[in-house]
Amino acid sequence: MSLNKSNILNGADSSSIDIAVRALQRDLLVAIPTETVYGLAARASSPSAVKKIFVVKGRPIGHPLILHVAKKQDLSLWSQELSNNARLLAEKYWPGPLTIIVKRNDKVCDEITGGRDTVAIRCPNHPVATELLIRLTDAIVAPSANHFGKVSPTSASHVAEDFGDEISVILDGGECSIGVESTIIDCTTEPPQILRAGAISADQIKRECNITIASATGDSRASGMLDKHYAPNCTVELVDDRKDADVRLNQLNGDGRSSEIIDFGDDLEMFAHELYARLRDADKRLIDVVITVKPPMIGIGIAINERLEKAANSNRSRE
Ligand code: TXA
Ligand code: MG
Repeated sequence: MSLNKSNILNGADSSSIDIAVRALQRDLLVAIPTETVYGLAARASSPSAVKKIFVVKGRPIGHPLILHVAKKQDLSLWSQELSNNARLLAEKYWPGPLTIIVKRNDKVCDEITGGRDTVAIRCPNHPVATELLIRLTDAIVAPSANHFGKVSPTSASHVAEDFGDEISVILDGGECSIGVESTIIDCTTEPPQILRAGAISADQIKRECNITIASATGDSRASGMLDKHYAPNCTVELVDDRKDADVRLNQLNGDGRSSEIIDFGDDLEMFAHELYARLRDADKRLIDVVITVKPPMIGIGIAINERLEKAANSNRSRE
């Protein structure tokens, strides 16, 4: 795909947001910044626009999308029979990196949910996304703006590298502050279940909202949670500590395989922020193996480990 920077517009300019809104109104796709990763947006009320996302991403039909709304009060516009937990979580964490699964109402088209009677909703915390949603006066659906199964984008240039001019507008809102996708919590079950880890952890929800969370198993996991995903071209190897990483690096270099170490120690926020950019950069430089020191399983470290396991599984399936 050729890199075409002419479709990257500065999201800080009001006129850029107007251009993006007009594109969405004409059922075109627009890439938008959020605090987690960049999204590939279509107008939620247009089934034909929503269908384009599956074509451009190469995403299997029936793999449901997240609906993004401007403000927390919009939760009830697209849902019904809201549980107290769903209301409480939206009140506490929106706008922010939490996607809440609720029972959908008739406004939500089948193309979004793959025919399910539930819908995933989130209210992003990024000024460009919020302004766009307010001016559009509709919700958008937005999967991560990468080809299906590949590494999510955390900057406008990542999106341009993946899609070139297949997307009419890429709104540049700078680097995503968090860097990994939102936590997904299913509030249609009692107790609620986390289907995908993100910046907001089960422990945090328990502590701050006194809601106990069940860990997701089997069919109840998000249907998009394939065991391999987030796959760079390089092989990802996971090690427990820096010492092991150094030993492995020497081995690989001795075998003539270009390799490097990703290690952020205990700086989990920085790790999440940099992870996808580092994997993409390793691919650009044709690195064979990225040895990654696993972060501790606390807070956003759980989300990072989840992504790393899937990236490592993707190489195993290539071998
Ligand atoms: O941070 C994020 O959530 C980003 C930004 C762009 O907002 N979006 C994102 O979307 O990660 P995507 O499409 O890459 O991931 C959506 C996940 C998939 O795993 C999908 O299966 C799950 O959400 N999902 C959506 N609707 C669902 C539903 N009704 N029930 C269960 N899982 C659902
Ligand atoms: Mg994705």
